[in-house]
Amino acid sequence: MKNFSILGFGHIGRVHQQAIEEAENAQLISIIDFNLPEDLSVKGYSTLEGFLIEDQETDVVVIATPNGLHREHAIRCLKAGKNVLIEKPIALTVEDTVEILRVAEEKKLRVFTSMQLRFSPVVQYVKNLIDNNCLGKIFMVNINCYWNRNKNYYKLREWHGSHEMDGGVLFTQFSHFIDIMNFWFDEVKCTASKSYNFTHEQITDFDDSGCINFTANDAIGNMIYTTSVFNKNFESNITIISEKGTIKIGDQYLNQMIYSDLKNVCCSQKISTEQKNFHSNLVTEISDAMLFNNESLLDGKNALNLVKFITDANFMASNNNKEITRTTDNYEISHA
Ligand SMILES: NC(=O)c1ccc[n+]([C@@H]2O[C@H](COP(=O)([O-])OP(=O)(O)OC[C@H]3O[C@@H](n4cnc5c(N)ncnc54)[C@H](O)[C@@H]3O)[C@@H](O)[C@H]2O)c1
Repeated sequence: MKNFSILGFGHIGRVHQQAIEEAENAQLISIIDFNLPEDLSVKGYSTLEGFLIEDQETDVVVIATPNGLHREHAIRCLKAGKNVLIEKPIALTVEDTVEILRVAEEKKLRVFTSMQLRFSPVVQYVKNLIDNNCLGKIFMVNINCYWNRNKNYYKLREWHGSHEMDGGVLFTQFSHFIDIMNFWFDEVKCTASKSYNFTHEQITDFDDSGCINFTANDAIGNMIYTTSVFNKNFESNITIISEKGTIKIGDQYLNQMIYSDLKNVCCSQKISTEQKNFHSNLVTEISDAMLFNNESLLDGKNALNLVKFITDANFMASNNNKEITRTTDNYEISHA
């Protein structure tokens, strides 16, 4: 049994509360937030400082504060001897991500991130097809994300829409889709990117739409994304065109098999598509990884390429696809 505390009790903090309460190998110890409800069933702290001075029991702090605070909050928790589960994105820059991983390494603590769509049975099914070479040569991978985020969405939370706290739609809305590329393929690289602002000029610090070209191992990839769809979310999906099959998966949680035509019928199977919320899988996975000292698919080092990809895409879009030079490209973490 591992003890969890939650820092940031907003929308996703509450999802973590339910996930921890439901998990058999985890228990919730405390919740930290400036604005705590009166009817908390566990100990509450109004500041991180107060929690870090007093708490002796927490194994993992779930960092569920706005994106731009993840670096500071994770490092303060790690320096105080706590393992962390950082909501997505792990951080908003490559340098901040590397710093978090370095501090964890120095302190011999673990960093996990919320890449929960990796637990979607449909996503795992496709990963198995790729890992077992059932698709043959993969030619193309296409990601389409057509969502609506209107003025009211950006009014609801102060941190949404700012460069420093939100970081842009690739970090806040669409990072899970890019993460799945990193889950399926060993090497995913952004090669060109353009961005546009159709409907958020006066609303956000950043563009709302774009087209990205990338490579995924030997396949060519393309991502088209927008938060400017009229009225409501339209669709999000990933299509693979390959030598031995065509697959399209989709929905907001990537839990639907939309199309599948495979040469190797042996690979077909009945896949569960009911589950939408995968946060309970996160908690169980993390507790197990710590109890048995296992590597985990949620290890923070697995999120570094995601931050690199988004940083490159944003940089290329605002610098006319200038080539990128970065000093942290060769960074490696030695332990799980
Ligand atoms: N994994 C997912 O699918 C998913 C879904 C939604 C949000 N998120 C991520 O979760 C994080 C939180 O998003 P949200 O929608 O819950 O935001 P939110 O605004 O609803 O909640 C953030 C909470 O953090 C608290 N907070 C802010 N600064 C604090 C501080 N210094 N000390 C203590 N509390 C502080 C706020 O009071 C608020 O209650 C973001 O990083 C977001 O990207 C992930």
